[in-house]
Amino acid sequence: MDAQALGVPDFGATEPFKLFPSETIEIINSELEKHAHELQALLSSIVGIPIEPHPMAFERAHINVQEQKYSDSELVEVMKQNDDATGEEQPVFGWHTDSQPLVCITMLSDVPEDAVGGETHIQKADGEVLKLQFPAAGYSYLLQGSVIPHAAMPALNYNRVTMITSFVPTNPLFCEKTDLDLAIKYSPADALTDEFVKYRCDYMSKRLKLLKRCSTSDGVEFCENLLDEIMADLKHTKDSLSRVKDTLTK
Ligand SMILES: [Fe+2]
Repeated sequence: MDAQALGVPDFGATEPFKLFPSETIEIINSELEKHAHELQALLSSIVGIPIEPHPMAFERAHINVQEQKYSDSELVEVMKQNDDATGEEQPVFGWHTDSQPLVCITMLSDVPEDAVGGETHIQKADGEVLKLQFPAAGYSYLLQGSVIPHAAMPALNYNRVTMITSFVPTNPLFCEKTDLDLAIKYSPADALTDEFVKYRCDYMSKRLKLLKRCSTSDGVEFCENLLDEIMADLKHTKDSLSRVKDTLTK
């Protein structure tokens, strides 16, 4: 290929080369092994039911980067104005519920001692708003983000980098309403919808198996309720795909 004609750096690919010494690889692998199970067990114990990483790779993990909103001198001005008015900052990510049932949000960036902003606001059923602030990098919180409305407030004087890992309940008796409304903005449509359909089929198959298993033992009412939910699952799956189609044809 002609790099000059393409206007790209004159580089193709390398042979494999040793980037890490074997000690490093051992450490990474042992951490991976240790934490994959440990993490799932720990988070399940906190939620109170077995949970597992979201089966959809596109929904499983992402990192949010919000750059510091103001320089130090701008911040002094803004704080003065906020004192004069009642002004509170607008969320960087407004009030919403998530597509993924449960999320573990981990702070990756250092939080300065004089941190202003960067809290997550969550709303209780009675309307009260709780403000969660990460004390430092490495702290996490768990949220049933599909149910609890929440909003991310802007970090005014530091960069806020958070890692979000998604989980689903292992037991298919729990409702699960993953959709593609957000993921379609960041992911290739064909691969995303393909993965979504397969995932939803697996989920609904598990629910049908549960129905088959429990139909005699749990009675007609249980069957009716579960069938209603499965019909709602089918509709949810179709509606999610239709909205993706509408987004793409706009
Ligand atoms: Fe969220």
